[in-house]
Amino acid sequence: MTRHDDGVTLPAAPSAGRIEIDGLAKRFGPLSVFEDINLTIGEREIVSIVGPSGCGKTTMLRCIDGLVKPDGGEVRIDGQRVTTPPRGVAVVFQHFGLFPWKTVFENVAYGLRLSGVPKKQIEASVLRHIELVGLAGFEKAYPYQLSGGMQQRTGLARALATEPQVLLMDEPFASIDAQTREILQFELLRIWESRPTSMVFVTHSIEEAVLMGDRVVVLRGRPSSIHEVIETGLPRPRTREVLSSPRFNEVREHVWSTLMQEAEQAERELQESR
Ligand SMILES: Nc1ncnc2c1ncn2[C@@H]1O[C@H](COP(=O)(O)OP(=O)(O)OP(=O)(O)O)[C@@H](O)[C@H]1O
Ligand SMILES: [Mg+2]
Repeated sequence: MTRHDDGVTLPAAPSAGRIEIDGLAKRFGPLSVFEDINLTIGEREIVSIVGPSGCGKTTMLRCIDGLVKPDGGEVRIDGQRVTTPPRGVAVVFQHFGLFPWKTVFENVAYGLRLSGVPKKQIEASVLRHIELVGLAGFEKAYPYQLSGGMQQRTGLARALATEPQVLLMDEPFASIDAQTREILQFELLRIWESRPTSMVFVTHSIEEAVLMGDRVVVLRGRPSSIHEVIETGLPRPRTREVLSSPRFNEVREHVWSTLMQEAEQAERELQESR
């Protein structure tokens, strides 16, 4: 961590920046959500983003995905300014985002069909990715027949099947029970190791942010901006031992105290306004 006198920690510049977020700002009418967001994410890097509810994490992912137009600054992927949904970017949502009327197979095939991939190739890729996320045998099941964890595995397979260069994860495991969540975290890490991408991982869980990320970005304030970027400095591949390592605890405590300061400040402002 390289801390500055004002308490702000600056990121180490990654060697190859696949995603460049440059002076990004977003407003919804009178509401200024975030401003002056600057962040570069490497080709094989996982950056976790934490921050209070409503600080604009989902909105930021949508700016990267080209679904929301920023009011200031820009996002570039491989040097190209994002103005419409770019190729090679896949999103995994908190609420799975599956089509209830489509089978697991058809849900996973969706992105590939959209891109006009030939039928034979779709079948091979879909089956491979269903297997990769541990859902072999459930190809013909419908989402209502699956547990939350299995639905999220389907969402993950759908995103991975398009072989994205950029993976945007918006609290992907938030609706899943703690045990399944831990299993999926390590499965995702295993899959990422076999095919590293540029990944932005939004979460409310500090442990998850530290476990997944090479860096953890803490958003704070209203409008929010980057308050701190913390290098986790944890070895990869990440195994369960990481969770009990002194470094993991150190980083977790650090992120926790930063977020607590924000919560206490918000509480004070609320008291003063009464
Ligand atoms: N389409 C929209 N129109 C108007 N306001 C919006 C729109 N989308 C988001 N907002 C507002 O922008 C702010 C940021 O929303 P966003 O969903 O990005 O926050 P978040 O950090 O993802 O929150 P959470 O942690 O609860 O998911 C919120 O105040 C939200 O009400
Ligand atoms: Mg959100």
